[in-house]
Amino acid sequence: MTVTSTGGSGDTNLTVSAGASLTFTPDNWNTPQTVTLAAAQDSDTTAGTRTFTVASTGLTSRTVTATEADDDGGTNPVHVENPYAGATGYVNPDWSAKAAAEPGGAAVANISTAVWMDRIAAIGGSASAMSLREHMDEAVAQDAANGTAPLTIQVVIYNLPNRDCSALASNGELRIAQNGFNRYKAEYIDPIAGILDDPQYANLRIVTIIEPDSLPNLITNTDQFADCREADGPGGYRDGVRYALDKLHAITNVYTYIDAAHHAWLGWDSNFQPAVDLFYQTVAGTAAGVDSVDGFIVNTANYSALREPHFTINTMVNGTTVRQSEWVDWNYYIDEASFATALRNALIAKGFRQGLGMLIDTSRNGWGGTARPSGPSSSTNVNTFVEESRVDRRIHAGNWCNQSGAGLGERPQASPAAGFDAYVWIKPPGESDGASREIDNDQGKRFDRMCDPTYTGNELNGNNLTGALPDAPISGQWFSAQFRELLRNAYPPLS
Ligand code: BGC
Repeated sequence: MTVTSTGGSGDTNLTVSAGASLTFTPDNWNTPQTVTLAAAQDSDTTAGTRTFTVASTGLTSRTVTATEADDDGGTNPVHVENPYAGATGYVNPDWSAKAAAEPGGAAVANISTAVWMDRIAAIGGSASAMSLREHMDEAVAQDAANGTAPLTIQVVIYNLPNRDCSALASNGELRIAQNGFNRYKAEYIDPIAGILDDPQYANLRIVTIIEPDSLPNLITNTDQFADCREADGPGGYRDGVRYALDKLHAITNVYTYIDAAHHAWLGWDSNFQPAVDLFYQTVAGTAAGVDSVDGFIVNTANYSALREPHFTINTMVNGTTVRQSEWVDWNYYIDEASFATALRNALIAKGFRQGLGMLIDTSRNGWGGTARPSGPSSSTNVNTFVEESRVDRRIHAGNWCNQSGAGLGERPQASPAAGFDAYVWIKPPGESDGASREIDNDQGKRFDRMCDPTYTGNELNGNNLTGALPDAPISGQWFSAQFRELLRNAYPPLS
């Protein structure tokens, strides 16, 4: 007998492309056969539906409804100046589910956070983590459901050989001395670029965050750390970043943002201009030169405040500059907004594009809650003044692991100020920065004592306590206690 499948009412861009008429015989009657539907390109922005009737003489016919994932009008990718402007952000279902399962977490579970490709295996996914393709397909579905707005999905590129060379908590799987650069290219960047380049994703705005902490480590940490010295040479961070930029920038709808650490890393004179020079020199060596970079991001996965509202770098206390306080320690910046602005100006002066856009990771730099000062201190002692006025409540600005007292920061938003493309949530709140004790794992992650609340520090944090929360899992894993604290201390507060 013959079974026909016929399109009925609905969007006629949806059709039967194969199997419109299928024959079943006494020999194959119980072997399933396939009907294939197709969705032709259209110029509208809605996910059309159409009913199809499956019929055969003498049998009751069945009706099915097919829904397309509309790509909002085209497969001709475009590259806009600010990929966040006018767009909605991709909600990562993996992160969203974990956030929503925490008490009060529903308030933020629909916020856009980045997808981290933190090892080769992350590309293919696992039973508990979506693959890159699954994320991209889901992004197309979210784009189809958001009306006419474009959709921005953020992917963190984070797998350089000798990764995290000055710390241990996020050491990676690749080593320069063990063919790491070739593996980075062939097994990591090439497959990622291959997926992002798929015409099915041509209408998404794909933001890539390029290798957090890497180039900054070459500025400050080659003296003390052999891994950083090696990363400063062939097949190291410069070559890796250039390769990533070349592959990713070549895809029209991909946007590249290079990580530029944060004010309490590069804000001193001795680091600031050398960093600008290194960024320039690295990017100038790519095929497209400065054009291969859309912008820079600061504060990725860090806790530095967006703005210190109660003093500026020019504040004097009883005739003494706040720069002289122990907390500021002669830095030229006290917060990320001022640092990012100055950095942007210096990068453009060096030769980067005028349109360079800055991002700030505000996922965990809120510093609200009861410990937040409500105004400037009245002390005439510069140290006391700064201690009592600053909203960043860390023990030392060099502390970076699972900081106690921190809160969610500004919610993601496009074009928050001149020169800024967006405030973004790159580090997914609730994911650990590192284990507070040795924990066995197959990701190359190690135990960094900066994540141990009992450690009394080293020269990188002025020999202070670490301020890390206890009982933390390895970096990237869900850390419920931290998520709850971030929620409690959110600033702006959650409404
Ligand atoms: C970890 C990654 C993780 C990312 C986001 C990094 O510190 O090393 O494994 O994906 O944080 O949580």
